[in-house]
Amino acid sequence: MSSTATLISRPAPADLDYRSRFGNWDNRASVRTKALHILGEHLDGQLFFPPELVPGIDHPALAAVMTPECRQRILMHRLHVYLSFTTDLEQLVVNPVTQLLSREQLGFDLPKPMLRDAYKICADESWHALFSDDLADQIVAATGEQPVALPRPRFLTELDRLSAGEDSSIRGLTSLFFTVVSETLISAILCGIPHDRRVVSAVRDTVADHAEDEGRHHAFYAKFFEYAWHQLGPAQRAAIGPLLPEFVTAFLAPDPGALTAVLAVAPLGVETVRGIVEESTPAAEVRASIRKAASASLRMFTQNGVLDDPRTHDRFAEMGLVDA
Ligand SMILES: [Fe+2]
Ligand SMILES: [Fe+2]
Repeated sequence: MSSTATLISRPAPADLDYRSRFGNWDNRASVRTKALHILGEHLDGQLFFPPELVPGIDHPALAAVMTPECRQRILMHRLHVYLSFTTDLEQLVVNPVTQLLSREQLGFDLPKPMLRDAYKICADESWHALFSDDLADQIVAATGEQPVALPRPRFLTELDRLSAGEDSSIRGLTSLFFTVVSETLISAILCGIPHDRRVVSAVRDTVADHAEDEGRHHAFYAKFFEYAWHQLGPAQRAAIGPLLPEFVTAFLAPDPGALTAVLAVAPLGVETVRGIVEESTPAAEVRASIRKAASASLRMFTQNGVLDDPRTHDRFAEMGLVDA
């Protein structure tokens, strides 16, 4: 972010009633207390990733050519997609924004303890990127198989597209609010994998460490949203509001390019695989799962009056995130 918009501030909430969730960070944060998890028993019938989180894996056209080895390779490559998604998100989006926030470069009035907590979030996110990249390397070393080549992740192309539409009044705010949204969503991966005993323990434990840290980040960013939203001017709120459902969808919708690359590990033509991906991600089902994972963020938007703006409400409804 080269420069940010000048805020046409309404006053910040008078008391700025911030209660830090980072008081016990030294004793709780995974970067302060946990070691890297070492891949051990992946050949003992454990799964690299839950098959339910790989749309299309049970498609009849794939079942016809599937072997147990091929299925495990698909799950492994799906895990690689998740690990590289995590590294990209932390290093390319969340940390650049959170660093600016910690240095008071975003133009918002924030309580001082919040700035210190932003430093701690940056340390957490760097650790999440490191342990994801390390686990990916361990998988390559253990299996002798490199990750399949992936196109640029969908969430980054979407962020580029939406940032390109910024005018000077909201310069820099697209990636800021994209970050806020991504930090307040609760993905099926973070929620489910730590408790899924079919999954390789190093994967489960790594995701569990991440999920626990993200609980604190969620509380921080929900509070930040409350302060920041009310410090924007009306025109800025009107410009950012309709982008919020785009951010939610960019983050949570399946990434067809990545999914195609993963399923193409099976001995099928790429066009057949594209067809499988399309059939396996029906719009209504995708919308319902996005709405579920976004429920905390949607509550946060409602509580802060975001949906009171008719254009914003209509955009959320068009994208299936609220009822029309
Ligand atoms: Fe993280
Ligand atoms: Fe985070």
